[in-house]
Amino acid sequence: MVTLSGRSALVTGASSGIGAVVAEALAAAGARVGLVARREDRLDEVLKRCRRHSPGSAMWAADLGDLDGVGALAAAVEREFGGVDVLVNNAGMPKRRRVQDLSPADTEEVMRLNYTSPVRLTLALLPGMIARGHGHLIAIGSVAARLGPPHEAAYAASKAALTAFWESMTVDLDGTGVHAHVIQPALISGTELFTLPGNEPPLSDLSDALPPREVADAVLEVLESTRFERYVPGWFDEMASGKAADVDAFITGVKEWTRDRLEPPTL
Ligand SMILES: NC(=O)c1ccc[n+]([C@@H]2O[C@H](COP(=O)([O-])OP(=O)(O)OC[C@H]3O[C@@H](n4cnc5c(N)ncnc54)[C@H](OP(=O)(O)O)[C@@H]3O)[C@@H](O)[C@H]2O)c1
Repeated sequence: MVTLSGRSALVTGASSGIGAVVAEALAAAGARVGLVARREDRLDEVLKRCRRHSPGSAMWAADLGDLDGVGALAAAVEREFGGVDVLVNNAGMPKRRRVQDLSPADTEEVMRLNYTSPVRLTLALLPGMIARGHGHLIAIGSVAARLGPPHEAAYAASKAALTAFWESMTVDLDGTGVHAHVIQPALISGTELFTLPGNEPPLSDLSDALPPREVADAVLEVLESTRFERYVPGWFDEMASGKAADVDAFITGVKEWTRDRLEPPTL
């Protein structure tokens, strides 16, 4: 079991769902955890749980979609914690709409929160990690980054961009002691992602969803390794390699799956 005693971790999107569970898991592993999201009351509940394990934990209420504030947030956390050893870029938003129903502003809003903002936060905290000679930069992506799900073009593009940035980043950081990892969850339950307004109902069957603890376990696992990409559940690995082997067959399959979901065959 990973021990993070004496280490500091920063988790964005820690007020609900995956982020709240990851934050508590890191605190239970001994890290002092910093929590970021917009809703102060919800952050406060998570902070209380984290402080039971790690009394030095703290929270910052911030809108990460406001890019101008990201640098100041990073500086405030570094001042308070004296450096961040583990950054979990988890805050994110869905945009479940057919591409015909997307506006340019929709796509830019998703890209700002799911890609540009975590990149800014990462670049702001990276010099400190390099100077200290260690660190873990974790991105919570999505299987959508690799598998192009229907009605999620804006979301999938933001997660693919994040994954591509992370992939090149981990090569650039070779020899610095700083490691980059991306966790690609499939369906995860107990989060607000599927009920947020402004989205179509999900096409997938949510009864297949895994608990957020599975993502927290994946985060703890990559902290003990140099592993770059980890799917949750792990068998999505095979789906991604199957797609890479024959992308046209994959797209044909997804079109059929989508038609069946929208117009279930009559018996
Ligand atoms: N659930 C799934 O099946 C699934 C699958 C694959 C990937 N993911 C990814 O997992 C991550 C967490 O999602 P979740 O499922 O746990 O959903 P969630 O319950 O909706 O959590 C999203 C978190 O992001 C925060 N957030 C949203 N907009 C923000 C903003 N502008 N500024 C700061 N924080 C903001 C939310 O807090 P506030 O509203 O308080 O700001 C919340 O804490 C996302 O990146 C998502 O894409 C989820």
